[in-house]
Amino acid sequence: MPGILKPDLIQIESELGINNRASIIEPVQHPVLAYNSVHLYIKRDDLLHPVISGNKWRKLKYTLRYALTHGHQHLISMGGAYSNHLHALAYIGHKLNLKTTGLIRGEESNQDNQTLSDLRKWGMTLEFVSRSNFRELRKYRTHDAEPAKQYNGFWIPEGGASQDALRGVAEILKEIDMEFDTLALACGTGTTLAGLAKKLPRPQQVLGFSALKGGGFLEKDVKKLLKDKSVNNWSINFDYHFGGFAKNSDELTSFVNEFESYNDIPLEPIYNGKMLFGLLDMIKNERFKKGQTIIAIHTGGLQGDRN
Ligand SMILES: Cc1ncc(COP(=O)(O)O)c(C=O)c1O
Repeated sequence: MPGILKPDLIQIESELGINNRASIIEPVQHPVLAYNSVHLYIKRDDLLHPVISGNKWRKLKYTLRYALTHGHQHLISMGGAYSNHLHALAYIGHKLNLKTTGLIRGEESNQDNQTLSDLRKWGMTLEFVSRSNFRELRKYRTHDAEPAKQYNGFWIPEGGASQDALRGVAEILKEIDMEFDTLALACGTGTTLAGLAKKLPRPQQVLGFSALKGGGFLEKDVKKLLKDKSVNNWSINFDYHFGGFAKNSDELTSFVNEFESYNDIPLEPIYNGKMLFGLLDMIKNERFKKGQTIIAIHTGGLQGDRN
């Protein structure tokens, strides 16, 4: 990376154009809230950066610094054909002049979309892997694991899941200067949830909404990331996946449209739309005490909705 000898995060953020101050906390407007006396706010991490938005930068920043500190010039990771994680990584590679490789789930011939075309445009080498090989890749969780050797670079597990990611995510808490009872967010790998739960003082709670159907592995993965059984201030709701990852429905589409009509906040239906649908449904069904304050984290991902 020309110009950066000793990787300094402030300098990296400035090269990438990350705007930490943009992630404001806004009140959410919805008729369900006034009726049930619950206060709902949203932390706009989607505004951190137009591409590396939401939890992407939170999860990647310390991993990237580690990689650069150790002289790595080639970052390799994995994801689906619409992966927000690979999208952010490819952009980072492009801006910092690093080589990137993305291992994509499924056959190339079946896939073409705007995410993949951005990855190619930003110079990421794409390799399409069968679904069974992709599942195998999920077991590699360290930066020097098998794919690092095979592709001669620095391996970043799916979704950026790592201890460094937890550290970056936990920084969200330092930016919240108001009292609240619960943090709510969408879950894929559970890394963002783990990072928040690890540092959130009790009795505050973290409530995740799984974007995947049958994500039974999710709770196990969160526990593995947390490495500490005494951290029990979190839970994951599995009732609002709408049939599975990236599955949509008319009900979800109308909810997203309705939400956007009350709030000047864009949502995608894959993660944040489902999370807010679930949260407001739970509030409607009086699953939160009156007077409680909830902060939802907007984890970005709007690029995935263009395809
Ligand atoms: C927009 C968005 N929200 C939420 C998540 C879930 O994050 P995690 O994998 O840390 O659970 C992802 C996946 O990384 C995502 O792209």
